Amino acid sequence: MKFGVVGAGQMGAGIAQVAAQSGFSVIVQDVKPEFLERGRATIQKSLAKLHEKGKLTETPDEIMGRIRFSTDLTDFADSDLVVEAIVENEAIKAELFRTLGGIVKAEGILASNTSSIPITALASVSGRPTQFIGMHFMNPVPLMALVEVIRGHSTSDETAQKVIQTAEQMGKTPLTCNDFPGFVSNRILMPMLNEAIQCVMEGVAEPEAIDGIMKLGMNHPMGPLTLADFIGLDTCLAIMEVLHKGLGDDKYRPSPLLRKMVQAGLLGRKSGEGFYKY
Ligand code: CAA
Repeated sequence: MKFGVVGAGQMGAGIAQVAAQSGFSVIVQDVKPEFLERGRATIQKSLAKLHEKGKLTETPDEIMGRIRFSTDLTDFADSDLVVEAIVENEAIKAELFRTLGGIVKAEGILASNTSSIPITALASVSGRPTQFIGMHFMNPVPLMALVEVIRGHSTSDETAQKVIQTAEQMGKTPLTCNDFPGFVSNRILMPMLNEAIQCVMEGVAEPEAIDGIMKLGMNHPMGPLTLADFIGLDTCLAIMEVLHKGLGDDKYRPSPLLRKMVQAGLLGRKSGEGFYKY
């Protein structure tokens, strides 16, 4: 399997790592060498941690040896599957898929790791809508079992089958849904996080108490505010906007506090402060 990943950020690096761990030959592309270096460092750190815990069947060097880093999209010409994990912006993703559609061999499959942009819209611009699909990995990719597989309007059964099989070979559990705003994961998760933020705004409880109630009371591994900080408050806001606009129901309106924190640059873990300080 020749596996391609576009984007060497947190998600792209995680996807490339898991693909290489499962024996695939991987190319990771990003626009700048320094982004690739950061991706390489992310993968090395994660592999070292897994190796230390005895969770790898090979050495980190053997796994790294299957990953090639490139700034050139034409390197994907011979790829069987290319997964996109770039910035969550529909116009930028559409432009990328228009380009990839002209590069990747005719039988190759294109997939997006988007958390909420319509798969069907990206499939249309790629020029190969039957061989297009959503492959939504969860953060942190090396530790999370799920791949949410999203079928676009025209995704073929053969494409879905190949992608499900690939996700299984990567040691993941693929579960399939259809292309509606937020798919399943974020349609259910984000309103919960948004409601926790609304509880902070209304003074229902302190953040620590809200998180503690959900962790201890519902056995969630992270409280909703810790999870929102982990995902990024800008990402949470963008997904709430997609749900609100796409489903047209005010029950999905983003909390004004979420909007204000994003305006203030308090984005969670990645900016150093959100509901907590890092
Ligand atoms: N690679 C390797 N090891 C990693 C790692 C990575 N990428 N990330 C964390 N670890 C390690 C930690 O370093 C830690 O190691 P030590 O035990 O040596 O300290 C170990 O994993 C376990 O971490 P913790 O003890 O800190 O925490 P944990 O046992 O609770 O597990 C977790 C961590 C798996 C992240 C868990 O907290 C969890 O499941 N949280 C919820 C995550 C979640 O909901 N993700 C989905 C987000 S939504 C999304 O991704 C999609 C979207 O569209 C928004």
